[in-house]
Amino acid sequence: MARVFSGIQPSGELHIGNWLGAIRNWVALQDQYECLYCIVDQHAVTGQYDPASLALRTREMAIGLLAAGVDPNGSLLFVQSHVPAHATLAWLLTTIAPLGELERMTQYKDKSQRFESVPAGLLCYPVLMAADILLYRAEKVPVGDDQTQHLELTRELARRWNRHFAGGDAFFPEPEPILSPARRIIGLDGQAKMSKSLGNTIAVTETPEQIWDKLRPAMTDPARKTRKDPGTPEICNIYALHRHFSPEATVTEVAVKCRTAGWGCIDCKRVLADNMIQALAPLRQRSLDLAMRPAEVTTILADGAATARRLASETMAEVTTRMGFLPEAS
Ligand code: TYM
Repeated sequence: MARVFSGIQPSGELHIGNWLGAIRNWVALQDQYECLYCIVDQHAVTGQYDPASLALRTREMAIGLLAAGVDPNGSLLFVQSHVPAHATLAWLLTTIAPLGELERMTQYKDKSQRFESVPAGLLCYPVLMAADILLYRAEKVPVGDDQTQHLELTRELARRWNRHFAGGDAFFPEPEPILSPARRIIGLDGQAKMSKSLGNTIAVTETPEQIWDKLRPAMTDPARKTRKDPGTPEICNIYALHRHFSPEATVTEVAVKCRTAGWGCIDCKRVLADNMIQALAPLRQRSLDLAMRPAEVTTILADGAATARRLASETMAEVTTRMGFLPEAS
């Protein structure tokens, strides 16, 4: 069975961008693939973060993923820092990673602007991501649009390593992204990608009241100034969200009511809020239930890490041999 690997940072709560863009695919792929899902806490420390809340956020992310349907009976769910081989392989990959390509990564260019003195970890972030995937020799990687450039670099590193150390054999497969129809969800500001760091998110576990409080002021078609103006659904982010949360008949109705000014934006948002609340209700309930059973979550993560360490050590034995390191016992 081919392997799937994916990761998510515990840098904030699981939001509907993560869920629609990647996590629903994580869940769906569990039937056909051997799946490994990782909470990438070592990636989360490459930006500014609060050490006092990292452990809590990591647990909350585990709860969110389990509530969304990651099934620990068939898949592995684990924390990156619990498997030290991720960092070891990342170091080895930095030795063949082209600096120019790292500097050209879009996310690096965006995020490095926030620093006066740019940490090297931010530059090497995609190398750690490549190590995550290659460590398990995964072939498929369900992600949102923003990660496809990092995956291209992963394929490049796999090719380079194979050329340098495996005589051109495909020891590391070149992993392919699996994208969902919702590969880029725009935030409530109607402008930028939905992202916790921009504060334009809705978390999958928010209460109905919180969802409404966030949707009510959300950006719509900016050209629609008054209730009587007809709107253009194609440029409205609320319409885009309807396409992911509302039944097809409602989506059609929304488009007509918008174009004819039959509904005001607030009417349209009310319908979206109802559908979103209904879609997220089971996730919210499951995460409340899981939060009451912390020992179960601890065991799931410990079991996942133990299996991941075993799989990782198989790859690392090959990698260190092929790279010529002296084995400990000889
Ligand atoms: P992260 O933690 O930012 O996001 C987790 C997943 O959610 C997707 N995503 C989105 N999809 C659609 N619309 C959005 N607005 C949106 N925001 C986030 C992301 O594309 C991602 O799939 N570098 C990765 C984590 C990572 C990883 C890996 C992923 C580390 N190692 C190995 C795959 C394989 C990241 O920061 O994702």
